[in-house]
This record gives sequence, structure tokens and C-alpha cells, in this order.
Amino acid sequence: MTLLDGKTTSNQIKDEITEAIAKRKAEGKKIPHLAAVLVGSDGASMTYVNSKVKSCERVGFRSTLVKLDASITEETLLNEIKKLNTDDDIDGFIVQLPLPKHIDDQKVIMAVHPDKDVDGFHPMNVGKMALNLPTFLSATPYGILELLERYKVETSGKHVVVIGRSHIVGEPMSILLAQKRRYGNATVTLTHSRTKNLKEITLQADMIVAALGIPEFLTGDMVKEGVVIIDVGITRVDDPSKPRGYRLAGDVHFESVSKKASYITPVPGGVGPMTIAMLLKNTLLACENKD
Ligand code: GUN
Repeated sequence: MTLLDGKTTSNQIKDEITEAIAKRKAEGKKIPHLAAVLVGSDGASMTYVNSKVKSCERVGFRSTLVKLDASITEETLLNEIKKLNTDDDIDGFIVQLPLPKHIDDQKVIMAVHPDKDVDGFHPMNVGKMALNLPTFLSATPYGILELLERYKVETSGKHVVVIGRSHIVGEPMSILLAQKRRYGNATVTLTHSRTKNLKEITLQADMIVAALGIPEFLTGDMVKEGVVIIDVGITRVDDPSKPRGYRLAGDVHFESVSKKASYITPVPGGVGPMTIAMLLKNTLLACENKD
């Protein structure tokens, strides 16, 4: 069994980006500037956003954190987005999800200018992704493709079962893996909460992308020998024995599944760090697009 080490791989990608930035500086070109909008003070969202900002520093990007109160109106948030859209120094920005219930996520996503949408969530960019046209690929599926490529895990002709149909992971992942592209060309089954006989399907999978958000859902009895496992889940589970009072659990029961897997991503240290590295890649691309 080989661990797909997202931490080490993401550090390699960050080193590559750092080099690209040094070269841009030497050539007198613009340094990428990412802004992140955080609404409210959800613990996990704060951790993710801080990590994104810190990663910008690490590679030599400029970054701006826009912190807004959870009680902000939708109109005020849309105005903040307008400001970021028109600020020439900002190359790309993200609005961390989820947003408070009184704000319409979709309205917010559609307000972000597609050229600055480094999350790849705008319908224009999702449409381009689905048509295999150049665009910002959303960071989690992009990170998974990159991890497969760097470990040379072949997907062509393989049966991939994706569990979960979220707009951020399951849906785009199933589209990308089925496309005619390197680390695509798979036969994809997209499963979700209404799928019947899930275990019958997962037992046929050469590769499983678990992205449903239920801790340790996928167990050893549900997979075949030699399966490739991509665990996208990252849930805080109460654990009084830990200093923070919780531990991070993936959607995969690591102990039982890893015994059968040929490759598996750990949680933490698998898909998560890759997501941040790909956000940086998209931000660099947004900046290069303006050269
Ligand atoms: N919430 C969970 N994942 C993501 C992501 O990739 N981008 C943003 N903006 N919010 C998220």
C-alpha cells in the first residue's frame, strides 16, 4: 500500500510556485495577489482561510483577508465582491463557503467576476470545465487529478466510483475523470444518498473518491483488493483525549480500507493540502492571464 502524501506533494508544488514568482519578480512582472472573504467565525472556515493566507506568504504572493460579521446583509457582501472585482491589484479572490443561512450562496458565486474566480465556482467556469476548455478548475478536484498524476496512478479505462454529488467535489470530479484527458478516460459511476445497493457498486470500483461528508463511512468490507482510495472527507469528531477536544476524520475507515488498498490518501495530509496548492496555482494563472 502506498500513501498518496498530499502534504509532501503540495510542498513540492509550492516550491515550484515560489520559483515561478522569483522569476516573475526578476522580470519585473506583477506579483499575484489573492483575497479571501470570510463571513462569520466558523472554526473550520477560519482555519481554512488562515491556511490559504499563510500559504500565500510562503510562495511570495500578496494576500488580503476580508473578514465580515456573520450578521452582514447579502447586499453588503455583494458590494464587497464588487469592490474586489474592480480592484486591479487583486488577481483572484474566494468567498469561503458555507455562508450564513440568510445569504444565497449561488447569488454570491455568480457575483464573482469569472476572470477572478480562482475557486472555479462561477457557472461560466463550471461550463468551461464541463466542456474541457481552459479555465480555473475547482481546487479539490484539481488537487486530486494532480496527486494522481504525480504518483502516476493510471485512471484510463478504470472504473471510478464517486460517492457524493456536491457542486464543489463530487460533480466536477465525475466529469473530469470521464473526460478525454491525462488522468481522465475513466468509466465513472456517480453515487449519492439515494443510490441503492451502494456496496455492490463500490465492490466493483478500481478507484473510489469518497466525498459525502460522513466520517468513516467507507469500510473495508465495501472495497475490493487493490482499490485506489481518495478520501475527501474532513470532519471534526469530538474526542476528549485530544488537546483541542476533537480529531479530524475522513469519509474512509482508514484502518480497514488501507489493508486492501493499493493507494490511499490519509486524513489529514492527503487531499486537504493539495486543495490549497491548487488555489495558489489558479491565482498564479489569473495573474499570468493579465501579462
Ligand atoms: N468550502 C469548502 N471548500 C471550499 C473551497 O474550495 N472554496 C471555498 N471558497 N469554500 C470552500
